[in-house]
Amino acid sequence: MKFAEKPYKSLVADAAATRVHIVDQTLLPFAVEHRALANWQEVAEAIVNMRVRGAPLIGVTAAFGVALAMHEDATDASLAKCLRALEATRPTAVNLAWALARMASLLQPADPAERADLSWAEAERIRQDDVDINRRIGQHALALISSLYAKHQRPINILTHCNAGRMACVDWGTATAPLYLAQQGGIPIHVWVEETRPRNQGLITRWELADAGINCTYLADNAGGHLMQNGDVDLVFVGVDRVARNGDVANKIGTYLKALAAHDCSVPFYAFAPRSSIDVGLNIGVGVIPIESRSGDEVRLIRGIHRDGTIEEVRLLMPDAAVTNPGFDVTPARLITGLVTEDGIFAPAALAAALG
Ligand code: MRU
Repeated sequence: MKFAEKPYKSLVADAAATRVHIVDQTLLPFAVEHRALANWQEVAEAIVNMRVRGAPLIGVTAAFGVALAMHEDATDASLAKCLRALEATRPTAVNLAWALARMASLLQPADPAERADLSWAEAERIRQDDVDINRRIGQHALALISSLYAKHQRPINILTHCNAGRMACVDWGTATAPLYLAQQGGIPIHVWVEETRPRNQGLITRWELADAGINCTYLADNAGGHLMQNGDVDLVFVGVDRVARNGDVANKIGTYLKALAAHDCSVPFYAFAPRSSIDVGLNIGVGVIPIESRSGDEVRLIRGIHRDGTIEEVRLLMPDAAVTNPGFDVTPARLITGLVTEDGIFAPAALAAALG
């Protein structure tokens, strides 16, 4: 089987050629194919079709989309058009709107002649900040792992859902950053990686962790509750796509069920939330955060790798079978032990006060 062997950078920006190079994540982990994005339309296509995915990476890529647009045509009309189109690509992860708002507030008052350079530099800052933010997030959460290790003196079992890893960000990942730091610090860990149907982003997480030599086991989504009930999970670490001021959290579909099981089994449940994922304008999340409804074909078909190394899709359900495919769900704050941000770990009830 031709599985990719080493992880690559999720996004590389080439200022000289005004190109953004991404790994096409629709093919992971079976093949690593790079794709050059040369204009904002290609950036929008990559986000819509999940060639780039994960809340922080969507924001970074969209920022470069604006920069590419400004290199082509820096007029007010062009700026407004690309901002509108990029914002419509995916609805749930607020990092997208956050990054576009940051680009807009810099570029709208600027002289069009300066917009190309300004926008590239700002997108680059957003890209670099992501690395530092995730490292800081990792350091805060490392304390959770090391204190449990000090108590139990055995490998700490952490369950994760979806991919909040390096490929969802620029580097480190959010929920995976403390895993790398634990490994570097010699703290033994074992990670339960959930499959995350229907797009199976758990495959990407497993690929990232296995490449780093982190002990991990892959499981079907529905096995998580059973493991928690049997005392096999010490901590649940998940990413987020949008956090409301009251601490409600939208993340990949299935997160809510993990949180319910964790609550029932008294397993601490942490959501990893960079500031760019916090929607400061939203007071509550349940019933309010827009939930992306994706194509039923993501459920009807499943992708894998054939014996001869080709990537194939096979059909689980006929095209006319009724299907629903919500991409995300919202976990209420009452089920969340803590929100791990770059500025520290907050109880959900303390988030609003911390935001000011
Ligand atoms: O649909 P995706 O793959 O973009 O969803 C990804 C997730 O839900 C992640 O958990 C979230 O974006 C956090 S990534 C640090």
